[in-house]
Amino acid sequence: MLDRTPSEPLLSVDSLTVSFRTEHGLITAVDKVSFAIRPGELVSLVGESGSGKSLTSLAVMGLITDPNAILTGSIRYKGRELVGLSRHKLQAVRGNEIAMIFQDPMSAMTPVYTIGWQIAEQLRAHRKLTKKQARTRAIELLAEMGMPSPEVQVDRYPHQLSGGMRQRAMIAMALSCDPSLLIADEPTTALDVTVQAQILRLIEQLQRNHGSAVILVTHDMGVVAEVADRVMVMYAGRIVEEGPKEPVFMHPGHPYTEGLLRSIPPMHGVRPHRLIAIPGAPPSPANRPPGCRFSPRCAYRYEPCGIDPPLFRKEQQDIACYRAEALLEPVGVQRP
Ligand SMILES: Nc1ncnc2c1ncn2[C@@H]1O[C@H](COP(=O)(O)OP(=O)(O)OP(=O)(O)O)[C@@H](O)[C@H]1O
Ligand SMILES: [Mg+2]
Repeated sequence: MLDRTPSEPLLSVDSLTVSFRTEHGLITAVDKVSFAIRPGELVSLVGESGSGKSLTSLAVMGLITDPNAILTGSIRYKGRELVGLSRHKLQAVRGNEIAMIFQDPMSAMTPVYTIGWQIAEQLRAHRKLTKKQARTRAIELLAEMGMPSPEVQVDRYPHQLSGGMRQRAMIAMALSCDPSLLIADEPTTALDVTVQAQILRLIEQLQRNHGSAVILVTHDMGVVAEVADRVMVMYAGRIVEEGPKEPVFMHPGHPYTEGLLRSIPPMHGVRPHRLIAIPGAPPSPANRPPGCRFSPRCAYRYEPCGIDPPLFRKEQQDIACYRAEALLEPVGVQRP
């Protein structure tokens, strides 16, 4: 099991908020999110669509480029503040130290260059390599990613590859500089089950062989169950539960986590006709309910939920829910 006695965090995110100026006023998509990632751990960021997972990842990468976006809070990598760093300095960190696998592989690749060229460029941006050396390394990386006939695929354009192959090429690109931190945003969602499993194995291998820390973004608790050391559950722009995987899965503290866990299909036996999903839908950032944001969908809702719950600590879990308040010790307040 993971040692929670702290080694120095690799990444510390503190009160990260991402808002957008819109014609309906300011909307806050990521709201005072705080977490830390230690070297070598695989942490899963899980939540339904629109909860703010990609924006949190993009913020860490310094890739929120919308001119209407307002980002506040602190993102420290190896003790160094990244918020407010110049584009040039950020570029040196990005790709070299922190790499990302994007939700949509096509968005991360340019259609007009071969995958080999793109991996080689990434390598040459951070390492002193000749073009020939970079190409050889690109072929090696593709081979490591399980790409069949890499010396042929290297000269193909992204649209000439299948979804699984494209995903492998993007992972090769992300891993080209042995990042200390890899952010993988839904790396398996668009793929069939067999390829999904292969991609997860690749990510685990990276963690094991290079000692890289991984933030694995997913909406699938089945994926979390398979690979994560620790889980952060995100709902409507906030982290509502965080802790090591075993206690979170055995004793989920937040009703939302409980709901997500009920939606995992059973591994064995007869598959139910329909999985029990959480009734209702998450609120949009422009239209969030007062108090606990999950309360309109919550079967346990009671009077205190009209006020936004603080985070409570239960042994190794942090939970933003009043339900077990009597048993828990408050560790922070998430009120505006
Ligand atoms: N540029 C933008 N302007 C306004 N709102 C935005 C912008 N980008 C994202 N949002 C909103 O922020 C919220 C969070 O988006 P985000 O992409 O982080 O969700 P997600 O958790 O990654 O969802 P998914 O599982 O669908 O990928 C969404 O409601 C989205 O519509
Ligand atoms: Mg996303």
